[in-house]
Amino acid sequence: MKKATAVAPANIAFIKYWGKRDNQERLPLNDSFSMNLDGALTTTTVEFIENLQEDSVELVGGEFSDKEKQRIIRHMDRIREKAGTSMKAKIVTKNSFPKGAGSASSASGFAALTVAACGAWGLALSEKELTVLAREGSGSACRSIPNGFVWWHAASQSQESYAESLCPAQYWDLRDILVIVDDSMKQVATTDAMDQVKTSPFWEQRVEGITEKMKALFTALKEKNFPLLGEIIEEDCLNMHAVMMTQEPSVLYWNSHTMALMDAVYAWRKEGVPVYFTIDAGPNVHLIVEAGNVDDVIHKVKHLDPNFSIIHNTPHKGTTIIGEHLF
Ligand code: DP6
Repeated sequence: MKKATAVAPANIAFIKYWGKRDNQERLPLNDSFSMNLDGALTTTTVEFIENLQEDSVELVGGEFSDKEKQRIIRHMDRIREKAGTSMKAKIVTKNSFPKGAGSASSASGFAALTVAACGAWGLALSEKELTVLAREGSGSACRSIPNGFVWWHAASQSQESYAESLCPAQYWDLRDILVIVDDSMKQVATTDAMDQVKTSPFWEQRVEGITEKMKALFTALKEKNFPLLGEIIEEDCLNMHAVMMTQEPSVLYWNSHTMALMDAVYAWRKEGVPVYFTIDAGPNVHLIVEAGNVDDVIHKVKHLDPNFSIIHNTPHKGTTIIGEHLF
């Protein structure tokens, strides 16, 4: 039977991917770095079926748009090309998190799809090769395959733009408290917004600064220096959003709740609580803390606005094949 199931985590970038040097291959302008999240998992089962006329794609408890389906089928075509087959497949996928939780679903979605489809066909690819393939589906997906804390290399050659684990999930008990301030779908899709990156007068400065930022991040990781790590995370988040806001057309992902939380984080730090924020392509805020401060910070968020919902994430392993299938 040509069938396999994979579970992939979403990831939160500490140093962000924003902009491609090559759209076709999804080669990023800069290196990025992220942590896998245990609270946002995608499970996908792929089965190649002889004589099936076309791929069938199903999302449990939801629906893919036609555009999303086409993107999934295009990715299956890449995998079929590698496998040397034209056989179509049945694909069923399930998310452990609500659709509005952020840009998480494309990363975990394409990571799970890549590993499940390659596993189903029995393609023996290395982890590095799997990350290169997942990257072609959605850039950030490559970071969801290796374990824990992951570095995605920017490069001009496809095979060199891969992701690798720098430290396993157990290395540092950091937490990501994802505060969902708005669960409606994001307004501007990342792929479309990212295409306009070079219309910002600031994109180049941001990209030029990344090598230094990565170096500082390695130091922070090595020393487990949380304030240094937090400063880098916040700085790159603000840099990326400055680029987004100054693109043409401008993309402003924040709303008033986002800003209220950012303000609160500054205030909490002044009170001595080491907490830092980061934000992706949407209004929701990820609060990064060390394990010992989780309860305090969750309490503070609830006090700020009891309507916010919270997903508490610990660092997670990468994408794995499991024995239980969705169908
Ligand atoms: C803001 O990986 O969704 O979350 O390659 O076009 O699919 P595509 O983009 P995607 O971009 C994610 C951008 C981000 C920052 C990050 O995760 O690094």
